[in-house]
Amino acid sequence: MNIRRAEAKDLLNILRCNLHNLPENYPMRFWTYSTLTWPEISFLAEDDDRKVVGYVLCSIEREEKFPYQWVGHINSLSVLRPYRRMGLARQLMDMAKDAMIRGTTVIEYIQLHVRKSNRAALSLYRDKLGYEHHRLETKYYGDGEDAYSMRLPVTHMK
Ligand code: ACO
Repeated sequence: MNIRRAEAKDLLNILRCNLHNLPENYPMRFWTYSTLTWPEISFLAEDDDRKVVGYVLCSIEREEKFPYQWVGHINSLSVLRPYRRMGLARQLMDMAKDAMIRGTTVIEYIQLHVRKSNRAALSLYRDKLGYEHHRLETKYYGDGEDAYSMRLPVTHMK
């Protein structure tokens, strides 16, 4: 298993993994934009045949209320089923967090959304990685499910 930075050339392979794992499939132009704009903060895991088996895709955006501040975003995280419970998601998330902290743009916190029913991801974010509940966003997803908006404050990252 190899874990490394994700590059624009990896996007089609990442999308294959994304389509297997999640109903949230952003348009290719969004992935291309974020990977080219923030090339150092997204990561993938590949097997010995260079098949992408997990990824975390991130961006840095302006804070919604205080646009002079910046916020790290975890836009999508997933691991193919046969590779789950091996610690891959945790490693990918840690690498993304470290890269965001090391970067030249100072961020206030890292933000993500997760389905209310997603027990595995909630356990990872809340219990293992220290993300805090920020607010409930009703009908956030296309199928009407609510999302928890979660944040990892910078103080938790150092
Ligand atoms: N049930 C309960 N807790 C779980 C489960 C599960 N099935 N899977 C992972 N966890 C939690 C546990 O706390 C686990 O720690 P432990 O093994 O010490 O108990 C912790 O997550 C870390 O587990 P990892 O092995 O690092 O996680 P994994 O590589 O299996 O990936 C993931 C977890 C990404 C949620 C995976 O199940 C997946 O791809 N699911 C489908 C896609 C998805 O839901 N992605 C997140 C959407 S939200 C977003 O993208 C911002």
